[in-house]
Amino acid sequence: MTTRYVAAIDQGTTSTRCLLFDREGRMVSVAQRQHRQSYPRPGWVEHDAEEIWRITRELVPQALQDAGVGPEQVVGLGVTNQRETTVVWDRATGRPVAPAIVWQDTRTAGGLAGLVDHLDFAEVTRRTGLPVSSYPSGPKLRWILDSDPAIRERAERGELLFGTMDTWLVWKLSGGLHVTDATNASRTLLMDLETLAWDPELLEAMRVPASMLPEIRPSIGVLGVTRDPVPGIPISAVIGDQQASLFGQTAFERGQAKCTFGTGSFLLMNTGTEVVRSRSGLITTVAHTVEGEPTTYALEGSVAQAGALVEWCRTSLDLIRTPAEIETLAATVADNGGCYVVPAFSGLYAPYWESQAQGVVVGLTSYVTKGHLARAVLEATAWQARDVVDAMIRDAQLPMTWLAVDGGMTADNLLMQTVADVLDVPVIRPMMAESVALGAAYAAGLAVGYWPDRQVLRAHWHRAAEWHSRITAERRDAELAAWHHAVSLAIAWGR
Ligand code: G3P
Repeated sequence: MTTRYVAAIDQGTTSTRCLLFDREGRMVSVAQRQHRQSYPRPGWVEHDAEEIWRITRELVPQALQDAGVGPEQVVGLGVTNQRETTVVWDRATGRPVAPAIVWQDTRTAGGLAGLVDHLDFAEVTRRTGLPVSSYPSGPKLRWILDSDPAIRERAERGELLFGTMDTWLVWKLSGGLHVTDATNASRTLLMDLETLAWDPELLEAMRVPASMLPEIRPSIGVLGVTRDPVPGIPISAVIGDQQASLFGQTAFERGQAKCTFGTGSFLLMNTGTEVVRSRSGLITTVAHTVEGEPTTYALEGSVAQAGALVEWCRTSLDLIRTPAEIETLAATVADNGGCYVVPAFSGLYAPYWESQAQGVVVGLTSYVTKGHLARAVLEATAWQARDVVDAMIRDAQLPMTWLAVDGGMTADNLLMQTVADVLDVPVIRPMMAESVALGAAYAAGLAVGYWPDRQVLRAHWHRAAEWHSRITAERRDAELAAWHHAVSLAIAWGR
């Protein structure tokens, strides 16, 4: 009998990957390539959507070829993506009209006051689950439309299309399907979280023509079939990357949570079919949807800078030669020497939502070495996780007895130890730490009956490593207070 597989395309902030998984949830092939990051002005971050499509087009056949798998053996494809990154393209030519504005970009921060016309911010947050900030895709789309009268005119005439990376890739892969799913649509500031439909009042307030918007389809379910570069594969799931990793961690029940440490870090808790409104600075978001089933929601603590800070230490500071070296450097010292880094490069996300905050390094003395700085860099990721965990516990009214983690940064043992130290709960990494791609594959496979149900998937989850706190409560509390002092300075600096 021919062996069958499920494919996933994971279009992330720094790279795109195409992966194949077998029925046991094992990765049998991965093809990956990075794309260019452009920083044309302070706070601006751009991608070239055409480059990302070109790369994707190469990776899909490569992943199949590497595994010796023919297209007829691939039963479904799940597309998962960096979420709020915004692309506008010409319906007729398929060419983007402007560079894609990346989720981290803060160019819209200064214009937020006039963004939603007469609607008050609290009402917008109530409807969409999102803070009115530079993070969602809606303000980015509005910026592109306002950047050139010709673009606005063409959009009003119905000539232009909007999409996040899922929509852009599915449009290209399928030869013209203009769709998204509710996890991605819930990141726009344009979708009503309860009806899962574009909100006409929000569209009007933000001056977005409805004709540009993709159709919102279920996250799990066949929505079309590929035509390019490998024809005939059912596109059977579309899901934002952080929701995908929640699914990949098999966090199917209410109260189950995970934290992915990648470019940023994202802690999501499944809240079941209930829309839990945050009072502590978290996002309410869609976890996934299935045709004919009630929507599953999540609470999310989004942090913009985690791995991106380490990458900045490498590319902009020359502090390290590889990302892994940050751990080696940090391990040369026993503590941070009094130094704290608040990486507010995209303002501060959860739980602060200070779009204008800027990064600071504080506590410098002649005693501080680059080892201390490296340690403060790692600790920044841990303290940001602590802030969102505290908010999550308050909002969800559920204890957090342990935390499931995944993502590239979980290979850093010192970081994971520090996260356990500051959270004071066990931190557990599964064998398969590529939860984003795995979650997209699970969603795609379930949609086509490759796996009969979610129970089967749970059996694939195995614990690989576990960290427990090793510091005293006194030290934790004192350092938390210092961290919060540093955060207040980052906020004050941006004002
Ligand atoms: O919201 C942004 C997030 O989806 C980006 O994820 O994994 O590309 O850093 P990642």
